Amino acid sequence: MTVETELTATNASHIDRGRIKELTDRELQKLADRTPKSSERYQRAVKVMPGGVPSSFQENKPWPVYIDRGEGSRVWDVDGNEYADFHNGFGVCVIGHANPAVGAAVKARVDDGTHFAAPTDGSIVVAEELVKRFNLPQWRFTNSGTESTMDAVHLSRGATGRDMILKIEGSYHGHHDAVMVSVYPDLEDLGDRDDPRSVVYGEGYPKALTDLTRAVPFNDADALASVLDKIGDQVAGLIMEPAMMNINIIPPKEGYLERVRELCTQHGVKLIFDEVKTGATIGYGGATQRFGVQPDLITLAKAVCGGYPGGAIGMTDEIAELVSSGRVHQYGTFNGNPLVMAASEATLTEVLVGDAYTKLEDTNEKLKAACAEVVEKYGLPAYTEGMGAKGCVIFSAERINEYRDYLSKVDGELALLGWLYHMNHGIFMTPGVEEEWTLSVAHSDDDVERYLNAFETFARDVTGG
Ligand SMILES: Cc1ncc(COP(=O)(O)O)c(C=O)c1O
Repeated sequence: MTVETELTATNASHIDRGRIKELTDRELQKLADRTPKSSERYQRAVKVMPGGVPSSFQENKPWPVYIDRGEGSRVWDVDGNEYADFHNGFGVCVIGHANPAVGAAVKARVDDGTHFAAPTDGSIVVAEELVKRFNLPQWRFTNSGTESTMDAVHLSRGATGRDMILKIEGSYHGHHDAVMVSVYPDLEDLGDRDDPRSVVYGEGYPKALTDLTRAVPFNDADALASVLDKIGDQVAGLIMEPAMMNINIIPPKEGYLERVRELCTQHGVKLIFDEVKTGATIGYGGATQRFGVQPDLITLAKAVCGGYPGGAIGMTDEIAELVSSGRVHQYGTFNGNPLVMAASEATLTEVLVGDAYTKLEDTNEKLKAACAEVVEKYGLPAYTEGMGAKGCVIFSAERINEYRDYLSKVDGELALLGWLYHMNHGIFMTPGVEEEWTLSVAHSDDDVERYLNAFETFARDVTGG
């Protein structure tokens, strides 16, 4: 997601700042020149939508690129520019745009009525599929990742009778109160590793939230142990991405998730894996299957619903009883909406099946390896990271293991210039420093080649190589 983290001159790498500035100005102008119709849309849109966009994550400089249509791995903007899409709707469209199987399922559903607020067969099939993939026995549906993580927080509180939530520093879990704390705090606001301060993210969220949600650093089980020793008996749940995917990609260190699981069990804390980004993208059973650690709750959205607005929460039988007995309220007029369920069913049972994940992984490995060669050839302060359909080039000379590293080591100016080069060379990429690419089943060697050409042109220009 695009956020205003100031990863700029403070993390300057050895790359010449003057050159970065000169190229950034040039490429920004080029992007403006290529997108005059987006500019027109923007002038119109700002009169009726704050920032000219439906969600602040879509804001951009010089203006958002307004999209006209998509097919397979490609999208076209309103100026007619064609892009290979590595943004993929913030990691949603792993099935590719206008996927025919998903389209057929949704069209069939349209003719049979699109909403009843009563259960349909689709919800049973999708829940059964999620049980198979994620190894949790009970599922409920939501309309977004935000709703999924909100419900998971409520369920952990209901299950424990405790109020406090732990999260990871620098993680984004949607925009409801309990998780809008320590999302992208400044380095000086973070506090000690084993006694971190909480900071609300933006206005409109009460300061009192910082008493209810505390943050711990990722990949540091000792810090978590120390915090739980102090306040573990007040903590209902720990919500975390098993691999962080909103500050580039940070995988868990060997043994970290296992230790987190043990510590949560020891302190009676419910472990919530937020798989909104990893579920259905990094493997058949998401991060839970990939890393082999079983949480008490799993939150899903994005890719599982094949381009439609939905989400899901998986839970143990014990937690499900809280819902079925009516002790914890899990509601929503559109939960399990038949259109969304039709899209999800087709996605999970027709498209992301067979060797789909092997192919995604192979393409990803190819792209990562080729980017690593470019990094090496031009001496860029960067490395590649990723798994399944997700990957990125991280503009730090050293590996980053947590948010504190991300804030202090990533060269934000270089990352932003890389984004501009992609946009101007036919690659639609997630804006901002902290995102990653998402591949789809429609991505081919041509798309990979195009990405590499853009990346190499950037590397050559910025290093003068
Ligand atoms: C890890 C994670 N959790 C939750 C959310 C919120 O999902 P949504 O935007 O569907 O509300 C996001 C959104 O990017 C996310 O990355």
